[in-house]
Amino acid sequence: MSCKKIYITTPIYYVNAQAHIGHAYTTIIADTVARYSRMVGYDTYFLTGTDEHGQKIQEAAAKQERPTQAYADEISKTFRDLWDDFEITYDQFIRTTDEMHKKGVQHAFAKMLEKGDIYKDTYEGHYCVSCETFFTPTQLVDDILCPDCGRPTRLVKEESYFFRLSKYEKPLLEWYAAHDDVILPRSRKNEVVRFVEQGLRDLSITRTSFDWGVKLPASMNEPKHVMYVWLDALMNYVTALGYGTDEAKMEYWPAKVQLVGKDILRFHAIYWPAFLMSLDLPLPTHIAAHGWWTRDGEKMSKSKGNVVDPKAVSDAYGNDTMRYFLLREVPFGQDGDFSQRALIGRINSDLSNDLGNLLNRVIGMSEKYSDGLIDSVDVGQFHQGELDQAHTLLESLSGFMYEMQTHRYLEELWRVFVIANKAITDYEPWVKIKSGDTPHALATVALIANLLAKASVMLYPVMPKTANTIANTLGFVIDNSSYTHLIIDKGLLSTFTIKKQEPLFPRLEAPLLAEAPLSSPNETQAPKIATSKETPPPSTDGLITIDQFFATSLKIGTIVALEEVPKSDKLYKLQVDLGEEAPRQIVAGIRLYYAPDALLNTQVCVVANLKPAKLMGLHSYGMLLAAKDSEGLSLIRPEKPRTNGASIG
Ligand code: MSP
Repeated sequence: MSCKKIYITTPIYYVNAQAHIGHAYTTIIADTVARYSRMVGYDTYFLTGTDEHGQKIQEAAAKQERPTQAYADEISKTFRDLWDDFEITYDQFIRTTDEMHKKGVQHAFAKMLEKGDIYKDTYEGHYCVSCETFFTPTQLVDDILCPDCGRPTRLVKEESYFFRLSKYEKPLLEWYAAHDDVILPRSRKNEVVRFVEQGLRDLSITRTSFDWGVKLPASMNEPKHVMYVWLDALMNYVTALGYGTDEAKMEYWPAKVQLVGKDILRFHAIYWPAFLMSLDLPLPTHIAAHGWWTRDGEKMSKSKGNVVDPKAVSDAYGNDTMRYFLLREVPFGQDGDFSQRALIGRINSDLSNDLGNLLNRVIGMSEKYSDGLIDSVDVGQFHQGELDQAHTLLESLSGFMYEMQTHRYLEELWRVFVIANKAITDYEPWVKIKSGDTPHALATVALIANLLAKASVMLYPVMPKTANTIANTLGFVIDNSSYTHLIIDKGLLSTFTIKKQEPLFPRLEAPLLAEAPLSSPNETQAPKIATSKETPPPSTDGLITIDQFFATSLKIGTIVALEEVPKSDKLYKLQVDLGEEAPRQIVAGIRLYYAPDALLNTQVCVVANLKPAKLMGLHSYGMLLAAKDSEGLSLIRPEKPRTNGASIG
């Protein structure tokens, strides 16, 4: 087993609001990388925690007339409880109010001072309390508004200590240039480089107008000053490892992956490495910035009451399903939209169809053909090709994991299920059993079991419970030795008897959550029940399920010929090219509204799976979509030309 050390961090979350889907997203990605790293044999340390100092938290507590520490304790616990509920495998949950952290930050401050990187001056300028960020007048919107969150900034004038950020401009640019992949996705690097190239101003790193923060080292005798919350917070990544106190765990530093949201990339890709350079500490390998989640296409916000509560999602759909959706739905770095419709789509197609059905089929076939006994002995003889294809895919996955391309990881992994499903269709074990070619039929079933076993090992970091269930059905346990055997050594399962298993992901017909409980008003004390602002769930009378909707095949087609139907003033007999072998005949009652020229060689939308009908003695094999009102009738057409046969939906 390799001793390579891997350190993974999430941002530490502000304790002025409860966790929402964005926080869960970062934490779940980090948990996935941590689980993967442990499984492949790395000595892994995974850190998360809460960011508890600063003006924002002090004011939030004051608003609720609570002592700041008690308030921070309570909300920090809700984060920790949620991660425990989600079985997040963090090794440490740091709080910036921990004594060890405070000592570490003071140690760092003293070191920077000693190095000549800190000096005292007066700060005069604008401060956004919500972002805990200083801005120059030219950065503001309308002379007063924060360019990041749009809230009004406050003009402050205070005595302050400054960090010589300007000194690190050149070293930072050299660092970015020397490490192509230090910022992930790579596409984000340019924006950071451009920001630094425009020139860095020294950073105010202490405040005197409030006191909820880490004090300066006692030797400085500056009781009025507390540290700027971002200096305090960023240092958590090393104080958690004992920096400045008990440094044994510092052997995990530098971090392999530091996950952040795109909004806080600047702090992590500029301030943080500059602080580390000042402290003569090595720099992280990757700072990986993910995009933001919206809800049904809209920005999530407390005031709109549309913040997605991850607990509600997990309780309704299952933790593994939520994890899969978050990691599969959106390419890392891009913004993503959370909707139950998209979630159900993923459940029905990827989880139920591709994965769940495969497990059911292998259980069913093996019970029927061999009383559940699966023997891999002949797999290589009959199916080496499929095994080779699968191994090539499985080997490519680790690259995607550490590049944070989790959607690609899952996409490639799912291709193993395609190989397995195709093998069933191609080799038809049931035909071979009938014709007496039992060894080949059983080898195909064993191939499927082995492909499922290998895929479940690689699925484990993303969907731990599901992967463990599949492994249990297939008589093995997912750990470093099964990973080594099945993935690295390309080994096969030993002979075993398959277990029965309920279908893993039954298809879903309708959303499991009414819209209201999906939202948490995201306020500290707010109860998790619908508020008067939230609309009641719509009546379900007369609604169809998503499956019923998808049962209709809607396609784009081009009208390639048409004739008037004799003895009718309403009907045309159309020939519509739907990308099939021959155009389809469709009889449509649109003659009163369209002249032949307005139809010929134009595209229309067709209901393509209607039972044929007879109109004026002519067969019609479909129906055109049109909208009709008192003004007349209008065909529904694609906004831009599409390939004939393209499906709509
Ligand atoms: N406390 C700072 C981080 C300090 S790290 C040294 C902070 N906290 S936060 O609670 O406001 O945000 C934490 C993380 O949640 C950020 O990475 C942010 O990008 C992420 N998200 C907040 N809203 C989000 C979405 N709607 N979608 C995805 N992630 C989002 O910033």
